[in-house]
Amino acid sequence: MAYLRLFFMVTLLAAIVLAAPRPARVQKRSFRVPRSLNRAHPRGLNGRDAMRKVLTKYSSNGGFISNHKVSAMLEGLRTAAANGTKSGNGTGTVAANPEQNAALFLSPVDIGGQTLNLDFDSGSSDLWVFSTDLPAQSIGQHSAFDASKSTTFKKMDGAQFKISYGDGSGAAGTVGTDKVTIGGVTVDNQAVELANAVSRSFIQDTNTDGLVGLAFSKLNTVNDGTKKIPQKTFFDNVMGNLDLPVFTADLDPDGTGVYEFGKIDSTKFVGEMAWIPVNSSSGFWQFPSAKFSVNGKVFENKGASQAIADTGTSLLLVDQPVAEAYYSQVQGAQLNAQVGGFIYPCAAKLPDMAVAIGDSYMAKIPGNQITFATVDQANTTCFGGIQGNQGAGLQIYGDTMFKAQLVAFNGGNQSVGFGEKPPVA
Ligand SMILES: *[C@@H]1O[C@H](CO)[C@@H](O)[C@H](O)[C@H]1NC(C)=O
Ligand SMILES: *[C@@H]1O[C@H](CO)[C@@H](O)[C@H](O)[C@H]1NC(C)=O
Ligand SMILES: *[C@@H]1O[C@H](CO)[C@@H](O)[C@H](O)[C@H]1NC(C)=O
Ligand SMILES: *[C@@H]1O[C@H](CO)[C@@H](O)[C@H](O)[C@H]1NC(C)=O
Ligand SMILES: *[C@@H]1O[C@H](CO)[C@@H](O)[C@H](O)[C@H]1NC(C)=O
Repeated sequence: MAYLRLFFMVTLLAAIVLAAPRPARVQKRSFRVPRSLNRAHPRGLNGRDAMRKVLTKYSSNGGFISNHKVSAMLEGLRTAAANGTKSGNGTGTVAANPEQNAALFLSPVDIGGQTLNLDFDSGSSDLWVFSTDLPAQSIGQHSAFDASKSTTFKKMDGAQFKISYGDGSGAAGTVGTDKVTIGGVTVDNQAVELANAVSRSFIQDTNTDGLVGLAFSKLNTVNDGTKKIPQKTFFDNVMGNLDLPVFTADLDPDGTGVYEFGKIDSTKFVGEMAWIPVNSSSGFWQFPSAKFSVNGKVFENKGASQAIADTGTSLLLVDQPVAEAYYSQVQGAQLNAQVGGFIYPCAAKLPDMAVAIGDSYMAKIPGNQITFATVDQANTTCFGGIQGNQGAGLQIYGDTMFKAQLVAFNGGNQSVGFGEKPPVA
């Protein structure tokens, strides 16, 4: 709970725009909500949680790295390093250094007067929370929403939800609506999904009380037992009341950051923002990305998968040949067969990487922001924040990218805006 306070100490700014003279029916506005690094998270577990986030969405398409595989991989590496195993052919551990490995970000959300710490996820569309319908041992240290203590909660009779991931992890439960406030802006009848079952990885992640999905509402999993009855996301509900129908994700390399709704802070990036239309047919913030560059040299990614902007994923997952091409330029880098991930000597100089967003914008990630975690206690082997998607058929651009680029999600004209952040020392 000490950690909850952290959030309250951060100013929640709700700027009311359109002040006096205009006969505004709706007061349009913007607001921000801090995205805080979960500092209470036990050292060493961040990497795994990061990987869980990676899996959160795509595993249902099949073929993607399964949660269990990644958990096992990080766990195995950790144990090996703890036992003093040499990192010879790529065994070692992801002993997460919080600064380098800012994997878990939470933001405070008020639901019917109860505050929960939720993970904002532009790669899914369900707002689900730990609830008191869960067995006490599943709740553990989580804050769980108690519908009976909310005077504004309304049960949605017969409605249920189930998010499941390819390896069987996920959450399921009942559905209602309640007053949900984020950054001072309230939606009176927001669909809130109350978990009565959650998978182990969520139970173990004791500081995340649920997710706020920010992808397109068509991905929402609420159903009546026979057919889908997709509920609107919080963003879809507030969009019409915002100055601009946008939210931005701004994650700093130090692990803190902010989500801003309704405005784009042009002091956060240099030059003009590039706008790219999204292909929302699958419900993601998706766009073509068929080129990449390494140290400024541009290559085609033949047979490229489309890419999505996903705040719920920690890494930048590119088509496998792209990852191979990148790490071929890193001295000593190797694909660890056991891990299925690229590792390299921490002393190696990493080239800059850029990936295409649409046809004309290249989103650059400076080489010094690419390391995700050290692998061993001595900090000699590193695990990259850019990894291959193992043929998943989708490139998933997560936090590795949001550290270097300010990204705006525009629900009005269905586009994404990219602005390059100023370099950090
Ligand atoms: C590490 O040590 C533990 C406990 O001694 C042992 O169970 C495990 O097999 C060892 N793992 C490796 C990879 O050596
Ligand atoms: C690493 O792998 C290569 C190829 O599989 C093998 O020849 C070499 O002996 C291994 N080195 C170590 C230190 O295990
Ligand atoms: C979408 O809206 C933004 C402003 O909010 C504008 O700058 C951009 O050009 C538009 N993009 C598309 C693809 O229409
Ligand atoms: C849009 O995305 C869908 C699903 O990923 C894909 O099948 C389709 O080809 C894409 N459309 C365009 C115009 O790229
Ligand atoms: C490894 O890096 C971490 C974080 O930067 C630091 O706290 C730790 O002392 C380093 N370990 C060694 C052996 O240098």
